[in-house]
Amino acid sequence: MSQPVPALELQQISVVFGEGARRVVALDDISVAVQPGELLAVMGPSGSGKSTLLNVAGLLQKPTSGEVLLAGENVSRLSPAAAARARRRHVGVVFQHYNLIPTLTVAENVALPLELDGSSTAGVEQALAEVGLEGMGGRFPDEISGGQAQRAAIARALIGPRSVILADEPTGALDTTTGDEVLRILRERIDAGAAGLLVTHEPRFAAWSDRTIMVRDGRLS
Ligand SMILES: Nc1ncnc2c1ncn2[C@@H]1O[C@H](COP(=O)(O)OP(=O)(O)OP(=O)(O)O)[C@@H](O)[C@H]1O
Ligand SMILES: [Mg+2]
Repeated sequence: MSQPVPALELQQISVVFGEGARRVVALDDISVAVQPGELLAVMGPSGSGKSTLLNVAGLLQKPTSGEVLLAGENVSRLSPAAAARARRRHVGVVFQHYNLIPTLTVAENVALPLELDGSSTAGVEQALAEVGLEGMGGRFPDEISGGQAQRAAIARALIGPRSVILADEPTGALDTTTGDEVLRILRERIDAGAAGLLVTHEPRFAAWSDRTIMVRDGRLS
């Protein structure tokens, strides 16, 4: 039987920031593959390289060396515009700091990846309802709480047909109940066939994942 094609594959990824005395090896030869329907938890101390790993997987950071494959296609050497297109079509990202655009309403933030792609934005209200933000689409990011901003960022990452979902501490600003609810929504998407990478400091969320990897000083341990 042939091996299934991973939704996301990182091959021998290294990322080096700065030069000379400021040189930091953020990732050192990391290889990992995530299958459709699989949620991989990424744990490790602060500064170990978790966010850098997610940024590389989300085509937001070019690795110093190594390859990124989406559904078997090498996307490491795309132009910035082509990488942005591939990211919008295939990858949903929940950032550690939500990165909502302050001049857009909550609904406009969630609709953004669809609009940039010329797709219908009909699903926005439902996406907001799924994360408990019904009726809040017209507010601006500075008119909602941190937890609500986090949920808006999650709605934006899950909208549309995403095959890879990357979440960097998506429950960091949430209370336990809302955090569990967000994990349930994420897990449903994974069960429906997406592949996920979840950075978390909370061991209890590892239980929602199929596998856990530990990153330490930029290496898998
Ligand atoms: N743009 C950058 N320029 C220079 N160094 C950076 C940059 N981004 C990250 N680093 C460094 O790379 C290392 C890994 O950072 P990263 O943000 O990936 O850690 P992390 O595991 O996500 O930490 P945390 O749990 O605190 O979010 C750290 O030493 C950090 O200081
Ligand atoms: Mg981080």
